[in-house]
Amino acid sequence: MQVKYNYLDQQFAEVEGYFQDLRQLVATGEFTLGPFVEAFEKKFAAYIGVKHAIGTNTGTGALIQSLKAVGVQPGDEVITVANTFIATVGAIVAAGARPVFVDCDDRYQIDVNLIAGAITAKTKAILPVHWGGCSPDMDKVMAIADKHGIPVVEDACPSVGATVNGRKAGTFGKVNAFSMHPLKPLNVWGDGGIIVTNDDKAAEFLRLYRNHGMVDRDHIEIWGINDRLQPFQAVVGSRVLDTVEGLVQLRVRNAQLLDAGLKGLEAHIRPPARPAGNREAYQLYLATAERRDELVKFLISRGVEAKIHYPIPIHLQNCARDLGYRKGDFPVCEKQADEILTLPAHQHINEEQIAYMVSVIREFYAR
Ligand SMILES: Cc1ncc(COP(=O)(O)O)c(C=O)c1O
Repeated sequence: MQVKYNYLDQQFAEVEGYFQDLRQLVATGEFTLGPFVEAFEKKFAAYIGVKHAIGTNTGTGALIQSLKAVGVQPGDEVITVANTFIATVGAIVAAGARPVFVDCDDRYQIDVNLIAGAITAKTKAILPVHWGGCSPDMDKVMAIADKHGIPVVEDACPSVGATVNGRKAGTFGKVNAFSMHPLKPLNVWGDGGIIVTNDDKAAEFLRLYRNHGMVDRDHIEIWGINDRLQPFQAVVGSRVLDTVEGLVQLRVRNAQLLDAGLKGLEAHIRPPARPAGNREAYQLYLATAERRDELVKFLISRGVEAKIHYPIPIHLQNCARDLGYRKGDFPVCEKQADEILTLPAHQHINEEQIAYMVSVIREFYAR
């Protein structure tokens, strides 16, 4: 049996509806921002429950711009978690700031108990990540940030549809970023990103900044860049958004089936604790496994496309050399890098495939 990690051919097997919408766009010639982007931004803001949504070209761009919108400048420090995708940290560097890492907890999320100790006079933002579609303890993050008067920028890139006690990921911080990369829960046909905020001033800055600082074609208010959401991606994103609640529910069902199927194997493979009140979007179904590398090879040999996110932590990557971190600085993150694996649990996985994955894992540990 095959259990594929990438599901895009299945998700977009039926495209006629998308093509109809795209024909309408092409007929208008509105290829730079315009009504299709505006309509999508409004729809996304309503879904998340915020005042403003600002479309960007990528999630990475959304993060860089969000950091700028909260006032991060060259020389500042931004606190984030050591286990994330490189884009979180690359965005901090691109904004001119210095990434300051804290270790993660056993749910693979930022260890909120370590944040206060990392704050210095140079800290200008805290950047928690909803890693893999799962949320850290956002109430605690916000309490620490508020106590020190430091703005929070959520990296909610993988987490459209995730909630904490009914409140959506991306509604806690001052300015927050989502990705619409093809393997995110809300995905488009290429790259796409979106920033959300309730802050009118930040939204005004972002609408100018992503579009060269232009008020109109003849008036440039601030220095800016070109990092706009493409209208055809707004059209695609709008249709996918209609399906997001349903697809997240299927991911939750699959994750629950996997969790149940792995019961009894805790000595070998363990999914993280799942606090009541959190709904994960399961961009990644992560677990910690004994003899991880061997297990991943075994799964792949049996047709299950297991992955590793990621085997080398960012503070030990060559690009991070100048940050001065060393092996041993983030022991939880480093241990997880040796033990973590990702199993396919997306909306196109069915119950038979889940049962098959569980049986392959049981066979591996019974050998
Ligand atoms: C945690 C995290 N941050 C940032 C990004 C960057 O998003 P993008 O690929 O849209 O630039 C991603 C995904 O790729 C991600 O998983």
